[in-house]
Amino acid sequence: MSDTTMEKIVSLCKRRGFIFQSSEIYGGLTGAWDYGPLGVELKNNIRDFWWKEMTQLHDNIVGLDASILMHPNVWVASGHVSNFTDPMVDCRQCKSRFRADQIDLTASCPVCGGKDTFTEPRNFNLMFETHMGSVKDDSSVVYLRPETAQGIYADFKNVVQSSRVKIPFGIAQVGKSFRNEITTKNFIFRSCEFEQMEMQYFCAPGEDEKWFDFWKGERMKFYSKMGIREKNLRWHQHGEDELAFYAKDAYDIEFNFPMGWQELEGVHNRTDYDLTQHQNHSKKDLTYLDQETKERYVPYVVETSAGLTRNVLMVLSDAYEEETLEGGDVRTVLHFHPAIAPVTVAVLPLVKKDGISEYAQELEKNLRETFATFYDQSGAIGRRYRRMDEIGTPFCITVDYDTLTDGTVTVRDRDSMEQVRIDAASIVDELNKRIRSYHRG
Ligand code: GAP
Repeated sequence: MSDTTMEKIVSLCKRRGFIFQSSEIYGGLTGAWDYGPLGVELKNNIRDFWWKEMTQLHDNIVGLDASILMHPNVWVASGHVSNFTDPMVDCRQCKSRFRADQIDLTASCPVCGGKDTFTEPRNFNLMFETHMGSVKDDSSVVYLRPETAQGIYADFKNVVQSSRVKIPFGIAQVGKSFRNEITTKNFIFRSCEFEQMEMQYFCAPGEDEKWFDFWKGERMKFYSKMGIREKNLRWHQHGEDELAFYAKDAYDIEFNFPMGWQELEGVHNRTDYDLTQHQNHSKKDLTYLDQETKERYVPYVVETSAGLTRNVLMVLSDAYEEETLEGGDVRTVLHFHPAIAPVTVAVLPLVKKDGISEYAQELEKNLRETFATFYDQSGAIGRRYRRMDEIGTPFCITVDYDTLTDGTVTVRDRDSMEQVRIDAASIVDELNKRIRSYHRG
């Protein structure tokens, strides 16, 4: 378990506008969260970092944005209607509901303390149901998708026919997924509405194990590139009892969250299971013709499946530090990688008078095209630095009297707190250089 407590992260997130409880003014809705002004920037930046990595920087990966509501037969074919269940027990005494695989059924009940009060475990389907159209009966049932992956399978043929992609190739997608989770705790770690970043990599049968190893390597490298410390990441291979109904082999990337090591992302060998199922249920030919070998086959799939909202919690947990300074002062700092920080650079006039704030405002406006900026002229400079540390702003530019005479400004580094004077005209180059070479000390 890391030293950072969940309470501290939750409190900072609320205080500084990263994450709020959904519908808080009505007492809140369990399992749903709102991303505030800084949270939405952080989440979008992680999403964009992933998107660029998976599409722009890789050969043969194209994007997709499928709809959340799909034909209900998609979920029959995929196996979710019959298999996407958790075993659930209820306490007859206090009516609390638990996942049977997460509590000790032989001990006393966790809420009311009663013994022998549990019902027999029953399978509980995690998909949310709703109705489409004006008639509310069994024929109008549709599901909120519990994973984005099925949109990719359903559009496989469309993408092959429209994009000239050749196997091996991937389809990447980011979007909302919904699961009626029985237990939602640990903040945004497990929620009923969340976002996923998934990529299905289609390859020839027999090549799947090679690509599975390749993608395991790529996905772990991704987290280092995003600035996550290696000591907080590890692999966990699924045992026979953990494998999802569609998987031949599966590894989780686990992160050392405040509550302990937990799954962050799954890399799965889904074989030809999904496409075969959709071919059988839709009666449409979903085979692929290899132009070189003239072989026709149903492709195998290696899936990389990461939670975007769970990534937000991971990034916050890894970045959070309470640092004791010389003299005993404690500063709270978020060590975000500059590429994903909600604010990249803050511009701070040392004083408001003598044209200094006007100069600083002009400078901040000029930097907007290149960086996410923030302007702050209120309070002592030390206090303003602390505010920026607490929201993870990697750079602060301070404008002072010397700036007016020699055109130089001070750049303060969040992590080392070092300050250097540079020519104001070279700020963009200097910050870009620092962002490219960023390494958390
Ligand atoms: N398409 C495969 C799939 O959905 P999964 O292991 O069920 O696999 C993949 O989910 C990732 O989605 C998880 O590693 C996690 O990061 C995220 N995830 C799953 N359920 C979640 C939930 N209830 N709340 C937040 N994130 C969740």
